[in-house]
Amino acid sequence: MSKTIAVIPGDGIGPEIMTATLRVLDALDCGLGYDFVDAGMVALEKHGDLLPKATLDRIAEHKVALKGPLTTPIGGGFTSINVTLRRHFDLYANVRPVLSMPGTKSRYTDIDIITVRENTEGAYLAEGQSVSADGETALSLVRNTRKGSSRIVRYAFELARRRGRSKVTAVHKANILKTSSGLFLEVAREIAREYPQIAFNEMIIDNTCMQLVMNPQQFDVIVTTNLFGDIISDLCAGLVGGLGLAPGDNIGAEVAIFEAVHGSAPDIAGKGIANPCALLLAAADLLDHLDLTDRATRLRQAIRTAVAHDRAQITPDLGGSGTTASFADAVIARLAG
Ligand SMILES: NC(=O)c1ccc[n+]([C@@H]2O[C@H](COP(=O)([O-])OP(=O)(O)OC[C@H]3O[C@@H](n4cnc5c(N)ncnc54)[C@H](O)[C@@H]3O)[C@@H](O)[C@H]2O)c1
Repeated sequence: MSKTIAVIPGDGIGPEIMTATLRVLDALDCGLGYDFVDAGMVALEKHGDLLPKATLDRIAEHKVALKGPLTTPIGGGFTSINVTLRRHFDLYANVRPVLSMPGTKSRYTDIDIITVRENTEGAYLAEGQSVSADGETALSLVRNTRKGSSRIVRYAFELARRRGRSKVTAVHKANILKTSSGLFLEVAREIAREYPQIAFNEMIIDNTCMQLVMNPQQFDVIVTTNLFGDIISDLCAGLVGGLGLAPGDNIGAEVAIFEAVHGSAPDIAGKGIANPCALLLAAADLLDHLDLTDRATRLRQAIRTAVAHDRAQITPDLGGSGTTASFADAVIARLAG
């Protein structure tokens, strides 16, 4: 198979972890070609635009992109590039898997949860926002639609079916937010009936947070609206040792963009010590998306083994004494071994 993907190296540590990740992908021999495109500060400097049209066109052409973290300048009226990408390509499903890694410092060792977050509506619309003239009252619109709820819940069930997962939990606050969260829950219950082979339960967001901290093993696939998903997916990342181990997949009907959840880490950029793990795991999800499931599984296993056993080669944030490059070397060696 030969497939070209768009590659956005990104800002800060982005190019360092992208180089490491592409080296590992090459070692896996997946037949991927790379079309490098600019976005973020690099694009602003080169083209005067954080997200040039040529970049959007090339992502649309290849339909799949691997993306490094991007810096959105504070002030100057710039809209978040990530939000713009989600809107432009209608990337409605934000899929954030977390999996315990042996040998990492975390509260639990047996976590395997996929959060499926609605990515395009809910409290993130930025519509209907106003502050009264006296500055005393702020308003903001929350809009959930049947279409939006339906496609995200269906996505979660289909993902559960494809990956052999056994349960989907719909997380909501329909007891208080009776309209917006109520519609989401109503739709979730309807769609769950179409998947009798997959267990379904519903849980209120506040209880979910407590349950995630105290008894996270009960969760398998979580599906929820935008704001709740934003918060609990970070909570889940915390359960397995933090954002350095968390990939994020942004999936639409046409285009899918795979990335690390963390940012461009300007404090360590250029030092060669950035952890490439989250982007490597995002690359594994990309391989799954391209139906290269065997390679995705091999890659995840090699990462896990390297993290567990190659302490001298993995990066300091995971308690190792290595560099971004030596981390990639360790994963490549584990692929071969
Ligand atoms: N998906 C994205 O493109 C994305 C996501 C979040 C933040 N950002 C952007 O990134 C910039 C910096 O944001 P921030 O500092 O709030 O968050 P950050 O995730 O970049 O960094 C937070 C802390 O985690 C550390 N860290 C992050 N990734 C790491 C890695 N791979 N290896 C080792 N340590 C790592 C950093 O050194 C820092 O101490 C901002 O401009 C923000 O807008 C981009």
